[in-house]
Amino acid sequence: MMSNHSIAGLALCATLLGTGLTSAFAADETLRSLADKNNIYIGAILNSQWFGGGLPGNYEQIHKTQFNIVVAENEMKFDATEPSENRFNYNNGDKMVKYAKQNGMRVRGHALAWHSQVPNWVNNYKNDKKKLLSVLKNHINNVVGHWKGQVDEWDVVNEAISNNEPQWRSYSVWYQGIGPEFIDSAFVWAHAADPNAELCYNDYNLEQGINPKAKAGFLLEQVKRWVANGIPIHCVGSQTHVEDTTTDKHFIGSPDSLRSLAKELAKLNVKLKITELDIGFKSGINVSKSDLERQGQTFRQYLDIILEEPNADTYLIWGVSDKWSWLGGLNRQKGLIYDDNLQPKPAFDSIMVRLQTYEPPKDTVATDTTKQDTSATDTTKKDTTSNDSTIAIKTIAGLSSLSMHLSDRTLFIAGATAAKVDVFDMQGRPVFSAKNVKGSVDLKIAEGLYVVRVRDGSKSLMQRVTIK
Ligand code: G3I
Repeated sequence: MMSNHSIAGLALCATLLGTGLTSAFAADETLRSLADKNNIYIGAILNSQWFGGGLPGNYEQIHKTQFNIVVAENEMKFDATEPSENRFNYNNGDKMVKYAKQNGMRVRGHALAWHSQVPNWVNNYKNDKKKLLSVLKNHINNVVGHWKGQVDEWDVVNEAISNNEPQWRSYSVWYQGIGPEFIDSAFVWAHAADPNAELCYNDYNLEQGINPKAKAGFLLEQVKRWVANGIPIHCVGSQTHVEDTTTDKHFIGSPDSLRSLAKELAKLNVKLKITELDIGFKSGINVSKSDLERQGQTFRQYLDIILEEPNADTYLIWGVSDKWSWLGGLNRQKGLIYDDNLQPKPAFDSIMVRLQTYEPPKDTVATDTTKQDTSATDTTKKDTTSNDSTIAIKTIAGLSSLSMHLSDRTLFIAGATAAKVDVFDMQGRPVFSAKNVKGSVDLKIAEGLYVVRVRDGSKSLMQRVTIK
């Protein structure tokens, strides 16, 4: 009697012969490779522990494998780059720019004019408008100038709007000392220092609606004015620090509301970026498997905005692992896509599957000019689902590599010693899972379209499948 492994091997050979593929190597898919394919940026901060050198090696490995854009958690802020007047420190920022260059990543700069993390010496000038203007101008000239051509986009102004009845944040040293025109000036100076950098206004709570009483509504009016006045603003960064379990009105938001903002900004030819995403649970509560799955769906819904709205191109998460996250200070927990042990959570699976299954509307592929310039990237995705319920071999590297083949509902796996098989629906929701699969497994799922993922040690394979 033939073993399952041999059957899988035969199935693989048959498919190899059938497709004529003999020696193609395909790298395992990652968030990064799928983001590239979808013409978007997906990223996570390099946190302050990374700059301090206090992280395990697999943190960096994960970071550079999974992400194509990076931002520093604290190291390009005002207090870090100009700790004393006119004395600049670029060491940490340079370290990140070098890392990004070595790994072919886009760089975000965060943040030039912000009320927080401003060194004390600046406050000494709070009653001297002229001096404060020159302090801000000098800072922007130097910092943006130093990384000209290397930092692709900047948060020029961060969190200048207050939370309640929206208005300008009155306790900012820049607002108090200069007035709201510090914002217009900051954009103009940043543009002069690097005319090719994309310049953003960045804030939180922008996912709470665009009516005039919501922060995003207030912001939208300002963006209209800035655009009308020729202020060089190219993007709005929505930090998107949201809570999964909140009843606090300050933290209630929705992907739909953020999508409305994206659509309004599109009319002004301004992009929307998600710049600091985390979806935390209240500290102290028990977080169940189904909570984590629901969290994954919310991560996916925010990703949908970036995939689907032509003027949205960036999905940046404020951390990699729950172990190193600022969220504790906000009385929240578990808001990221890797757990404390740097293992991917359901949220990771959910966005991975969505990136895998997303198909851009055919008529927008050719005309979309607002997303990243990836002229070298083929953006048209091939539909592998149309024939029958046989899936294509994705990674082919001889019989010792991982491969899969589906016959009816039986999934045959070759090249695995004990594989974990997960099946997701097209929204990234887990529908089937089996461990220690050696040769084949029957997929107990209904008819439909799914994504199958097979993992064996460090090898992993993902493929779309139709069950008939
Ligand atoms: O620099 C000191 C260091 O010398 C000292 O050893 C250490 C001891 O705790 O503290 C260090 O400073 C801390 C700094 O992070 C670097 O780790 C500050 O106390 C701490 O307040 C600071 O927190 C940062 C926070 O911004 C400050 O506002 C968080 O790491 C950072 O994640 C957070 O990021 C902000 C974004 O910039 C803007 N949007 C909101 C987001 C979350 O608050």
